[in-house]
Amino acid sequence: MCGIVGHLGPQNSVELVLEGLQRLEYRGYDSAGVSFIDDQGNLQNFKKSGKLENLKAHLGAGPFVARSCIGHTRWATHGEVNDTNSHPHSNELLSMVHNGIIENAPTLKNELQAEGFEFKSQTDTEVFLGLMTVNLKKGLNFKQAIVESFKKVEGNSAFVLLDPVTTDIYAIKRCAPLVCGINAVQSEVFASSDPYALAGLVDKLYFPEDEVICHLSSGNKNLLNFYDLNLEKTKKYKSKNQDLSASVSEKGDYDHFMHKEIHEQPELIRSLTHYYFAGEGVPSLEKAISKKPENIHLVACGTAFYAGLVIKDHIEKLNRIRCYAELGSEFRYKDPILEKNDLGLFISQSGETADTLAAQSLCKTNGLSTMSIVNVEGSTLFRDCDDNLLIRAGIEVGVASTKAFTQQVLTGMIYSAALNGILENGEKKKDMAAKFSLLAERVDKILAEEKIIEDVAKEIHIHKGYFYTGRGIYFPIALEGALKLKEIAYVHAEGYASGELKHGPIALIDDSMVNVALVGPELYDKTISNIQEIKARKGIIVTIGPRGDEHLKEISDYYIELDFDGLDELSPIYVNVVNQLLAYYIARCKGTDIDKPRNLAKSVTVE
Ligand code: F6R
Repeated sequence: MCGIVGHLGPQNSVELVLEGLQRLEYRGYDSAGVSFIDDQGNLQNFKKSGKLENLKAHLGAGPFVARSCIGHTRWATHGEVNDTNSHPHSNELLSMVHNGIIENAPTLKNELQAEGFEFKSQTDTEVFLGLMTVNLKKGLNFKQAIVESFKKVEGNSAFVLLDPVTTDIYAIKRCAPLVCGINAVQSEVFASSDPYALAGLVDKLYFPEDEVICHLSSGNKNLLNFYDLNLEKTKKYKSKNQDLSASVSEKGDYDHFMHKEIHEQPELIRSLTHYYFAGEGVPSLEKAISKKPENIHLVACGTAFYAGLVIKDHIEKLNRIRCYAELGSEFRYKDPILEKNDLGLFISQSGETADTLAAQSLCKTNGLSTMSIVNVEGSTLFRDCDDNLLIRAGIEVGVASTKAFTQQVLTGMIYSAALNGILENGEKKKDMAAKFSLLAERVDKILAEEKIIEDVAKEIHIHKGYFYTGRGIYFPIALEGALKLKEIAYVHAEGYASGELKHGPIALIDDSMVNVALVGPELYDKTISNIQEIKARKGIIVTIGPRGDEHLKEISDYYIELDFDGLDELSPIYVNVVNQLLAYYIARCKGTDIDKPRNLAKSVTVE
């Protein structure tokens, strides 16, 4: 979703902000803009709908040299995609960018119009510009104006503002991602919505709490100061050394980040195995299992939710603890039954998904202990939960989540096994680690043979619709496979439990429909009968099934063979890698923008 980058310091701010925005392209956006103070001391504002390239063309020959700049990539929520609605919004008193939603914007807009403020855009953001303008005109200084304006807005937002008089930058947020960073050697200071934008540019990161004003200042020996809403200095922030290298933003030999990230999976599985199994124990895991919950409310969105379904199955089978898997967007509105000995377990790659965060907050308010299975250390979810298990997937740039799914499922299974005491039993722990290593080997092998999957994709990409079917532990994988295909190939795809097709969806089957049938060792015979039902109606069958299964091969139009032996409960992850590759190659055939699919955002920070 929207991305923010601000910079203040001796190097050229415009270039650094554009570089940061480029790194945030993966989050999804539809327009971009920058505001800066040029070398004549004038406030300049450039914004353009479409890709960053449009903005760069609009900036023209340049080069613009500035020591203070804020920039934004917008993912439209209020108001159509056009230049006027793009950020920054500015006038002679300030320039500003915004992530999130101002929920009481209509009321505030009426009040501001009554005070004579004229709106140019259809955005909720401009309401904050209006509030700031009115407060500055009343004679408040910049910080005071931020306090008064911020107190009036409702909803989750982050604001970054540029003061043209001092050239200083200010940032403040409520339940929205915001990070500041300092490069002490170069005397430079940054603000952003995503630490990834600052990789390689700063050595220290600062995560402010809600309602903390971050003041990025050039005229002060402290480049960065924090104030509360009484304008007293505050320590309400967390800091950490910045350890991301700039190279994480490169695709290497791959055409797409998605493809690179699919290929990273074997190494990531190995490193996760080493992290959780090699030593004497991982303190975060030990702390997480110190209390045995009565029930678990497992909440997540999209791909993370499907990972949650696999984890639910594992926890229930192994620990006989009742586990409810819930969608983040539904959970908070369904008046869930929450008991104080229950655990709220939240799964997220970004740790910034608004619906997941709201569910976490609801659980916390109801006195539940909360835990995350999360990728981004230091994210809001990570900071708000009592316990956190990191999935250690590294940065995931491709909008379609791949490696995060694999790592989420495995981390959830590790938690489940630890709850059961398996990690305290030397032999069992060794067996589990060996199974993880076997999975890494099998994934390596399928990646080496990906041409087989590419060839199937070339044959089937012309079809109008796709049913992914699976039973038992493969059912969530059918859901995830269909999601992957529709988001990057823009074709209709649905995941179904194989046995459900005949209760309605089978009406759609004809010779233009593809059934991607997932057939592992579990519920093998039942799944085969379901394939026969589709075959009888002339559906095209792509089976992902056991190696050497002649019968299955015979009834399938295309057959992708896998070696399931020894993988047991890990086999869904293995099948899922095939689905990832199939979606990737179908999308390639269709020529879509795989890493930045239309309408999608990497981190969904609005409700
Ligand atoms: C699909 C995808 C999304 C995310 C969902 C949750 O490929 O990436 O469905 O899984 O938006 O995001 P996180 O995991 O960041 O909470």
